[in-house]
Amino acid sequence: MRLKKVLKALGMVLAVLILFVVGVVTWATLNVRGRAQKKFDFPPLNISEKIKTADKELGRKIVTVRISCTICHGGDLGGKTFINDPAVGTFSGANITPYGLGAKSDEDVARAIYYGVRADGTPLIFMPSNEYHNLALEDVAAVVAYLRTVTPVARPTLPLKIGLLGKVLGATGKMSVLIPAELISSNAQAVVKPTEENSVAFGKYLVESVCIGCHGRELKGGPIDGGDPSWPPAANLRLVADGLWKEADFINTIKTGKTPDGRTLRDPMRGIVENAKEMSDTELKAIWSYLTALKG
Ligand code: HEC
Ligand code: HEC
Repeated sequence: MRLKKVLKALGMVLAVLILFVVGVVTWATLNVRGRAQKKFDFPPLNISEKIKTADKELGRKIVTVRISCTICHGGDLGGKTFINDPAVGTFSGANITPYGLGAKSDEDVARAIYYGVRADGTPLIFMPSNEYHNLALEDVAAVVAYLRTVTPVARPTLPLKIGLLGKVLGATGKMSVLIPAELISSNAQAVVKPTEENSVAFGKYLVESVCIGCHGRELKGGPIDGGDPSWPPAANLRLVADGLWKEADFINTIKTGKTPDGRTLRDPMRGIVENAKEMSDTELKAIWSYLTALKG
């Protein structure tokens, strides 16, 4: 008799738990679906003329050295699955060679990069435009001009599927990069490009279009928002710049992927270093100047 009662009570608890989980998952699914279907109304860029005369070599440098678009879009830019986790989801960068971009207009490609939206205004998923919004428009133009010149890669679109945990993280605001367009303010002033020289301003410009994505706005490091669960936390770059390292240590770390104390940097920093090691001394020195200017 006693046992029956206990079992009944346990059954009730289990039923409530299951209902709760189903409720949360349903709520998260609807929340993320609604946000992914929302249309964003960002102002036009009117960038087509700029793209015609843009510096393609600068575009190549931004895509393959400074920003590492290749981490998510593949070395040949033909698309790549960069997170494949049964719970979080399967995320793949699109094919951004002429084969994938096809008939999209220059303006639409630029809007995808700068605002993280498709031609119909709905947001791209997991495409970190909140960082690329920190690029000056002339650099966005250079990127689009370069993408038009790369070798077309005939690879179909790879899967993009938000897993259950991904939806719950997205819905509860624990994965802000899920819909980067939401992080962009449409009335923010466009960034003006500083001269490419060893200066704090140019260093800040370089850092804000890529490093902050993992090391955080404050560059204090920690777990990577939306990162693969297997990744180590990002390092605290302020600590490094606060007297622990010298400029030569920093440059050497980016050039070799090895820290002064002999650690080999792991993914995803290893992937960044593969590209960033091609940065010029001016670029690396400017980044160092900016890092050391951040005190505390
Ligand atoms: C963190 C991974 C990631 C990085 C880094 C990244 N992208 Fe993307 N990108 C994506 C994903 C994922 C999509 C597809 C999103 C979707 O379809 O909802 C995408 C889509 C795009 C699109 C739209 C393609 C289309 O057919 O609509 C363009 C253009 C693009 N990315 C360019 C770039 C450029 C240029 C860079 C570097 C400056 C870059 N991306 C860096 C993840 C990334
Ligand atoms: C895709 C994420 C990502 C991006 C983008 C990124 N980093 Fe990192 N970075 C990491 C992670 C993760 C580590 C820790 C690696 C480890 O512990 O093996 C790291 C480590 C480092 C270290 C070593 C610090 C130490 O004390 O070990 C330096 C220096 C560094 N990053 C600089 C940069 C700079 C400069 C940029 C921008 C050009 C950048 N990172 C962009 C993820 C990233």
